[in-house]
Amino acid sequence: MFDRSVFIIGMTGSGKSSLGKRVAGNLHIPYSDLDRRISEVFQIPVNDIFAQYGEEAFRRAETAMLIQTTREPPALISTGGGCVMNPENLNIMRANGLILLVDRPLDQILGDIKLDRRPLLADKGLEEVERVYHERIDTYRAAADLVLDNSKGYFMGMTGMERMLRLRFGLYSQDLSGRGA
Ligand code: S3P
Repeated sequence: MFDRSVFIIGMTGSGKSSLGKRVAGNLHIPYSDLDRRISEVFQIPVNDIFAQYGEEAFRRAETAMLIQTTREPPALISTGGGCVMNPENLNIMRANGLILLVDRPLDQILGDIKLDRRPLLADKGLEEVERVYHERIDTYRAAADLVLDNSKGYFMGMTGMERMLRLRFGLYSQDLSGRGA
């Protein structure tokens, strides 16, 4: 039974949202994307929130949205790359669910990151991505209850995350009848 939320953390470009959305669909559990929801509140993309209101306003909204998710039924929740760096956010996640790190090697992230959609990184380029990675990776790993190795491509990442959640929440039984798994 899916009785606790799972907060997906990790570096920008690690696959948090694409994997989370797909796996939640496969497992028939609710999915929520923190950045997307913040963007819906402001009615502009995240990079425009940074540009128009500043990072501090975004970070306040991020914590508020995280708290909002704790008042909702358990879900698989993708967070932005900076979210868990705030100790307050880490405490909220710890107290309200499990933390799943999507761990993707830096060279793969650098290979296909889209800087135009990443306001913190866009001006400074790939060297900044590298710097931020090294700055954050230890915190990510220390925060994580579960670590998904996402170094072997999208399909392996997806099936790995799915298996991890099925095992953790005992979600196998529901499927055995329907899909002959
Ligand atoms: C950020 C990552 C972004 C978004 C915001 C800040 C960060 O999310 O929350 O631009 O500090 O690393 P992604 O991790 O989905 O790119």
